[in-house]
Amino acid sequence: MFETRYVDVGWAKLAVHTVGSGPPALLIHGYPLDHRVWLDLLASPLTARNTLVAVDLRGHGMSPWAGDPVHAMELFADDCAALIQTLALGPAHVAGLSMGGYVTLALWERHPKVVRSLALVDTRSAADSEQGKAGRMAAMDAVVNAGRRALALAMIEALVPSDADLITKGRIASMIEFQPVETIIADLRGMRDRVDRTWVLPTVRVPALVVVGERDTLTPPAEATQIARAIPGARLVVVPGSGHLVPIDGAAVLVRELGAFWRDSE
Ligand code: MLT
Repeated sequence: MFETRYVDVGWAKLAVHTVGSGPPALLIHGYPLDHRVWLDLLASPLTARNTLVAVDLRGHGMSPWAGDPVHAMELFADDCAALIQTLALGPAHVAGLSMGGYVTLALWERHPKVVRSLALVDTRSAADSEQGKAGRMAAMDAVVNAGRRALALAMIEALVPSDADLITKGRIASMIEFQPVETIIADLRGMRDRVDRTWVLPTVRVPALVVVGERDTLTPPAEATQIARAIPGARLVVVPGSGHLVPIDGAAVLVRELGAFWRDSE
């Protein structure tokens, strides 16, 4: 079982969930999720070689909302850097899922010294298109007017392949419904306004792994391929049959790949 504690970073209090021993690896979840998206990794053989530190970004999971109307990716990245420094984890392996990947690229841009290696999972480097920004506005409208359950049900179909089992779908839906409305709105604003970090990719000077589900329709394999090509020496892994949440529906492959990647990066 992992240990949960709270760490103060400026005005925010972050819940961190730690298990294992060895070089630390910070796991940054996606939107609108929390550390539980990594549960299969936290209970995996990865913990024999690495200390896994799954953070709840401010306002998510067990971390209280800090009152920010916008969760900018830079704000999350600065929180993660402060966390790594406060817990003396650095330089740490960093793995980011989707929105966590946006945060990981911002972390590399702003605080490269705290990063030992980068794993970008089901994510992209580009900013939102105009259509994407409109989708954020529609999601804000949906969560305010129809509620989190409706948002969860609408999102599930995009997050996992439609033939995913009921337990998987239920696990994800309950995680989405658990996040405060304030957090969901602030995340949507932050993602809508985030900058294009494609220029950051060629500046990466640490080992990099890019992972994507073969059936990920939100951040599809074509985008992951471009990310991997742009980062010097990056390795690309396409997980057969998985959708947008590889830590859940492709966990066994992710455990194997991260284990080998972190071992080779130490
Ligand atoms: C996520 O999984 O974090 C989101 O799909 C990211 C996004 O909506 O851009």
